[in-house]
Amino acid sequence: MRVLVTGAFGQIGTELTEHLRAMHGSDQVMAADIRPPRAGSPAAGQPWVHLDVTDARALESLLTEHRFETIYHLAAILSGKGEENPQAAYHVNMTGTMNVLEAARKHGVGRLFLPSSIAVFGQDSPRDMTPNETVLRPGSMYGITKVAGELLLEYYVQRYGLDVRSLRFPGIISYKTEPGGGTTDYAVDIFVHAVQGRRYRCFLTEGTRLPFMYMKDVIRAVDALMDAPAELLTRRCYNISGFSADPGDFIREIRRVYGDFAVSFKPDFRQDIADSWPRSVDDSPARQDWGWHPEYDLSRVSQDMLKHVSQILQQAPGLGCLPGA
Ligand SMILES: NC(=O)c1ccc[n+]([C@@H]2O[C@H](COP(=O)([O-])OP(=O)(O)OC[C@H]3O[C@@H](n4cnc5c(N)ncnc54)[C@H](O)[C@@H]3O)[C@@H](O)[C@H]2O)c1
Repeated sequence: MRVLVTGAFGQIGTELTEHLRAMHGSDQVMAADIRPPRAGSPAAGQPWVHLDVTDARALESLLTEHRFETIYHLAAILSGKGEENPQAAYHVNMTGTMNVLEAARKHGVGRLFLPSSIAVFGQDSPRDMTPNETVLRPGSMYGITKVAGELLLEYYVQRYGLDVRSLRFPGIISYKTEPGGGTTDYAVDIFVHAVQGRRYRCFLTEGTRLPFMYMKDVIRAVDALMDAPAELLTRRCYNISGFSADPGDFIREIRRVYGDFAVSFKPDFRQDIADSWPRSVDDSPARQDWGWHPEYDLSRVSQDMLKHVSQILQQAPGLGCLPGA
């Protein structure tokens, strides 16, 4: 096996694993998660191994058995779920990341991808075109673990020469599996409700502007960063973004197709998290160093989401892989 993906059945892992298997061959990519894939997701029926990343011994024996060249460490607890259980978020995101870095160091893994998040920013960071290098004082436990994860991976790069690379993802929009409990999940749920003809109750206010990326751009960005020659990288953690939008922008796009789509707003605890995050980020270092450029803006994302969510729901109306479905 050449590649290990942890957290392989999450929102990103499901599609990244599918993509990596298409690229390297199914027998070269090991999918690992603490739970089985959801019925109806592209990972259902595919081979996988049970792995709890907080279990250092389990990781150690997996890396002893297989000589992985690359690890994509996606196992994590995200912002919304993290605020519901901060201790669990600390444990999975900190202990899990440390365990993966240590196992990779001991076993000479060639390259690691450790995603970070716009949650590293906080009230003291500039909210518009937030620079790559700025004050990082997040208010959420998720953000705290992501800042610490960035510092830790840079330590492993400098101290041990491990080749670790990271992207600070914004909210990610996709249709193949349910998002895992983040502050931007509404941007997936809203499409599913529109297609099903159901009223949507949004947990953020209409004007809450945040940066987003479509999954197809996420996969392209991960590939581009992982393939970039190390000498081109001026840093290890990069801001990245596709476009910025608020719930009102999504509603306007959806109503071009579903004119009577009804939405109400009931902000919950995630509003405070969103209010501490950037409205937009400056990803010019990623553009300059390894040629990042997004292909999907809000209008293209909306068209693609409505098309694919409709197809999925027509084929299997009871499919559990989509939120609210
Ligand atoms: N989705 C987004 O909008 C977004 C935005 C910014 C950053 N990220 C980052 O990208 C990475 C992947 O995110 P995602 O959206 O796919 O998350 P997700 O919640 O959809 O998936 C995470 C996966 O990790 C697994 N997991 C949880 N605890 C585990 C453990 N102890 N051991 C092994 N597996 C465990 C879960 O079962 C799940 O399948 C995370 O590091 C996340 O912080 C995601």
